[in-house]
Amino acid sequence: MSRKKLIAANWKMYKTPAEAKAFVDAFLPLVAGHTRDEIAIFPSPVLLPTVTAAAKGSNVAVGCQNMHFAEEGAYTGETSVRQLMAVGATHTLIGHSERRQYFAETDEIVNKKLHTALKRGIVPIVCVGEVLAEREAGKTESVLRTQVTGAFAGIQGLAAEVLASIVIAYEPVWAIGTGKTATPEMAVDAHKIIRAEVARLLGANVAANMRILYGGSVKSENANALCCQEEIDGALVGGASLKPDSFTAIVKY
Ligand code: 13P
Repeated sequence: MSRKKLIAANWKMYKTPAEAKAFVDAFLPLVAGHTRDEIAIFPSPVLLPTVTAAAKGSNVAVGCQNMHFAEEGAYTGETSVRQLMAVGATHTLIGHSERRQYFAETDEIVNKKLHTALKRGIVPIVCVGEVLAEREAGKTESVLRTQVTGAFAGIQGLAAEVLASIVIAYEPVWAIGTGKTATPEMAVDAHKIIRAEVARLLGANVAANMRILYGGSVKSENANALCCQEEIDGALVGGASLKPDSFTAIVKY
C-alpha cells in the first residue's frame, strides 16, 4: 500500500491577502524538507494569486474551496475551474458540508463538479459526512454510501489514472468546528464503509489506492492518533490550520 498522506488546510472565509502572505512566509520554513506527507492549503479564491506566488517552488500545494461545474458562462459570483487553475490552484474541494448546508449543494451538483474537475485535471477532494441526527438514527452507513454513489455517478468508464487522482474527505458534520472529534475507531469505521462503496463502484484496485482524509476538529493533540491509522490517509483541517505553528504541528503529527 503506497498511499501518501495529505495534510490539507481549509481556511474557509478567513484572511486577507496580507494575512495569507504572512502565513505562507512563516509556514514554509517550518515545513521545509518535509516530504513524508503532501501538504496543501485551500484559501478563498481572492487569496489564490497571493498564496500561489508565495508558495511557488515549495513543497506546499494550493487549492480552491469550491468551483463551478460549467466551463464558463453567465453565473454571477461563481468561479470556473479554468480561472482557478490559471491562478495556480492544483486541487479543489468539492461538496464541503458548508456548501451542502448553506448553498444547497446536492449530490447531483457534486457529481457535475467532479466530472468537470476530472476533465480539466484539477485534483478533486470530494467531501462526505453525516449530520448528528443521521448518526444518532443509525444512518451513517447509508448516508455515506448514498453520498459516494451520487458523487461518483457516471465516472466508471474514465481512465484508471484519472480515477486515481480522486481524494475523498470524510468530515462528520457534527465534528466540524465543534471541538468534538470522531474517535480514531469511528473514523476508521466510516473510512472502511466509504472504501467498500468505492470498491463496489470503481473496483477493488481503485479503492485500495484512493486516499480518504479525515476532517472535523483535527488539532495537534489528536492528529497523531488519527493520522497514524492505516485507513486514514491524512487530514482536512479548518480552525487549527489558520496559524502556522498549529498547522505545522499537525503536518508533523
Ligand atoms: P474544523 O477543523 O474547524 O473542525 O473544520 C473542519 C473542516 O471543515 C475542514 O474542511
